[in-house]
Amino acid sequence: MKIGSINLEQPFALAPMAGMTDTAFRRLVKRRGGCGLVISEMVSSEGLVRGIDRTLDYAEYTEEERPVSIQIFGGDPEKMAHAAQIVEGMGADMVDVNMGCPVPKIAKHNAGCSLMREPEHAQAVVSAMAKAVKIPVTVKMRAGWNDQEINAPELARRMQDAGAAAIAVHGRTAAQSYSGSSDWDLISRVAGALTIPVFGSGDCVEPSQLVQKLQDGRVAGVLVGRGALRNPWIFEQAAAIARGERPREISPAERGQFLLEYIDLLLHERTGEAEGFRHVAPTPPSALSPAAIASCPTAERTAVARGHHKWVINKLRALNSWYTKGLDNGSHLRIAINSAESIDHLRDIVADFFQLAAYSA
Ligand SMILES: Cc1cc2nc3c(=O)[nH]c(=O)nc-3n(C[C@H](O)[C@H](O)[C@H](O)COP(=O)(O)O)c2cc1C
Repeated sequence: MKIGSINLEQPFALAPMAGMTDTAFRRLVKRRGGCGLVISEMVSSEGLVRGIDRTLDYAEYTEEERPVSIQIFGGDPEKMAHAAQIVEGMGADMVDVNMGCPVPKIAKHNAGCSLMREPEHAQAVVSAMAKAVKIPVTVKMRAGWNDQEINAPELARRMQDAGAAAIAVHGRTAAQSYSGSSDWDLISRVAGALTIPVFGSGDCVEPSQLVQKLQDGRVAGVLVGRGALRNPWIFEQAAAIARGERPREISPAERGQFLLEYIDLLLHERTGEAEGFRHVAPTPPSALSPAAIASCPTAERTAVARGHHKWVINKLRALNSWYTKGLDNGSHLRIAINSAESIDHLRDIVADFFQLAAYSA
């Protein structure tokens, strides 16, 4: 399938998930195969335009992830257009607009799902972005704000008119958050009324469901969120089913190895990478770049490293709240990882649980 001029080898995509779909996780998913597109966690347009360090980190991606889409949020057409230009300047393949986030902190700023309540304004945002960049601009929305305001079909048409190259619909309202289930009939209706590709999102946790959704409805593709956090092989397995093959069973050793690789990628982010591998947004001169960190006095460097290790441990805790679901004795692993105090301890816990040979970094 194609989005604008970008070819996707598979119609399955890793959904954007704040705090979860960082560049390391996206790379690991891509390496397992079957995933046609990865989308970043949501990135603030305001932060991008102002060059705020944390925001710039969220927007980073690597060559290995292509095709890659960077999702931005915001409600100001000019800033969103400027942010889209920054994303384009970083060489990303697509820029996606978040119209689905129900979190009040985001929605109260006229961004996320609250854009769905102001269709004309939402159209102005997407139109400004589509005029500002050459890469495809896509939109991810929910069914609507609440049961009384289900307007995805109408809004999606407006987005198409405004220049969007594809739409993704999570078939729940903002009021539902994650309760109930995603309305795939509504998603099919949206898809049937548009000429641009529509991705459906919500509740695909088994690889066969991804294939089923494609066969059932009129969607061009399927986004997978939580199902990929539980089972990063879901895309590879769905692609096998689509080819008429039996999906491969994933061994405990592979599951353990995935976590060890994730720890290593997070730990060694930005070190020893070939030139051109990592794409970063322009940094303001005051930011603490890796070169600046290297020139810090030793005590400060140790503090930076300690902070980084803590961040890695927290990332593993966050992933494991999903990854351990459905694993035999998964709660034991979750509890053990929550108690990990160092990277070595973390690796030992993973190696023990999955009965991997002693780990050496
Ligand atoms: C932890 C988490 C973070 C999420 N963050 C985002 C986000 O940043 N942007 C977005 O558009 N959707 C976000 N979503 C929604 C997902 O992209 C997806 O639409 C939703 O989870 C339904 O799909 P699923 O049932 O496959 O998880 C998030 C979902 C989860 C669980």
